Amino acid sequence: MVASAGAQAGEQGWSSRTAFILAAVGAAVGLGNIWRFPTLAGENGGGAFVLVYLVCVLLIGLPLMLSEFVVGRAGQSDAIGSVARVAEESRVSRKWRLFGGIEILAGFLILSFYSVVAGWVLYYIWLSGGDFFGNLFAGEPLRGAFSDMGQDAVSGMMGELFASPGRLIGVHALFMVATITIVASGVHDGIEKAATWLMPAFFFLLLGITIYGAFTGDFERALAFMFTPDFSKLTAPAINEALGQAFFSLSLASGALITYGAYVGREVNLAPTAATISVADTGVALIAGLMIFPIVFAVGLDPSAGPALIFQSLPVAFQTMPGGSLIGLLFFVLIFFAALTSSISLLEGPTAWAIDRFGLRRPAAAIMIGGGAFVIGIACALGYNVWSDVRPLGFWSIFAEADILDTLDGFTGKLMLPLAGLLMSIFVGWKADRRLVEMQSGLSGGLFLAWRFLVAWVCPIAVALILVFGLFPELLV
Ligand code: PHE
Repeated sequence: MVASAGAQAGEQGWSSRTAFILAAVGAAVGLGNIWRFPTLAGENGGGAFVLVYLVCVLLIGLPLMLSEFVVGRAGQSDAIGSVARVAEESRVSRKWRLFGGIEILAGFLILSFYSVVAGWVLYYIWLSGGDFFGNLFAGEPLRGAFSDMGQDAVSGMMGELFASPGRLIGVHALFMVATITIVASGVHDGIEKAATWLMPAFFFLLLGITIYGAFTGDFERALAFMFTPDFSKLTAPAINEALGQAFFSLSLASGALITYGAYVGREVNLAPTAATISVADTGVALIAGLMIFPIVFAVGLDPSAGPALIFQSLPVAFQTMPGGSLIGLLFFVLIFFAALTSSISLLEGPTAWAIDRFGLRRPAAAIMIGGGAFVIGIACALGYNVWSDVRPLGFWSIFAEADILDTLDGFTGKLMLPLAGLLMSIFVGWKADRRLVEMQSGLSGGLFLAWRFLVAWVCPIAVALILVFGLFPELLV
């Protein structure tokens, strides 16, 4: 098969179904699972949030993931070009490509702050690794960078990082360069190869650390926290948050999956593949919770500590546990692997578009788009120090407290992704040619009807309601 999005850049698409699954699972599993999911679950009371999240994944996320793959493989182009082509073949307006455009813009914006957070991860690898290996070679007892430091000192370390624009921007740059290098190397030699190495390593580390946590930490309490719902915590913004997290974590509506779908061969059955990817992503999020919360509870930390949870709390926790300094290092390496396979998918969406739209060569496109996202990321980094007073959308109640990074995160997650998803569900459910959609989906009979019902009715109505009440909670009172 020849995918035009790849063909123009001399690509032949994925070399196998396994390669596609690894790349797509790599796109889905990332900071969203390990940093954002436990944080949100912690802030929103645990079980109730987890429950709403699971419902969102099943009824909205999975049906939309299949829709994205269908559009991509049918359109054989970037996110905008694919929608336009499916619209043409279905004899409806090409204007529907608008949601492809929102997707690509969202992917670009997410990349800009994603790389900043991934930079923190690199910084922590450097800190914990430097000291760990330093001790190793000096023949001293194995300790980590955080040994003998109390909570205040570790928090202070994060404060030091945040106060330094140079360090924040430096690690952000490093991560972005790694991302650009892989995407510039191509679908086959870059993205696919990275996923085939990094994802198995990731799963290995994840299981190892979770088992470690189960033995050394407070596993029972973590289970109770994550799976006992407290429905008084279920506010409209919390539900909006859960939906946004489902979109973010499954990599929906951000250009990545339509683009990855365009590289998939005709012989691959998309429906079971989408199911596999969704299950893997959700499984990793739950396991990440079970990896992090036992440790959090074991040392008496606050599960609702927010975005700092894994950076400020866990390093301290690891120190008090046997072998903790090595585990701490591996923990950040694991997050780095997951983040990298996600950021390359974020860059690939806009890059494929630039290649198709302007006829750029792949490396040039990757450098220009990655460079643009890098610049916006600088603003996020400065939002922690010189621009710490800036509240870009301060006039809007739900963004009133949000600094630059949180605003970008919230604006894309709560607004852009659900909006693009809403438009996509109307497009695939109502506008696109039914035979084309059915053929691409790999579903038939009752399963096809069930999927179509979810896409045509459940997704648009649920997403529209959640969007309106989540963004304007005032309306509910
Ligand atoms: N799904 C990724 C994560 O959970 C982030 C991502 C979003 C990647 C959108 C691609 C597209 O970290």
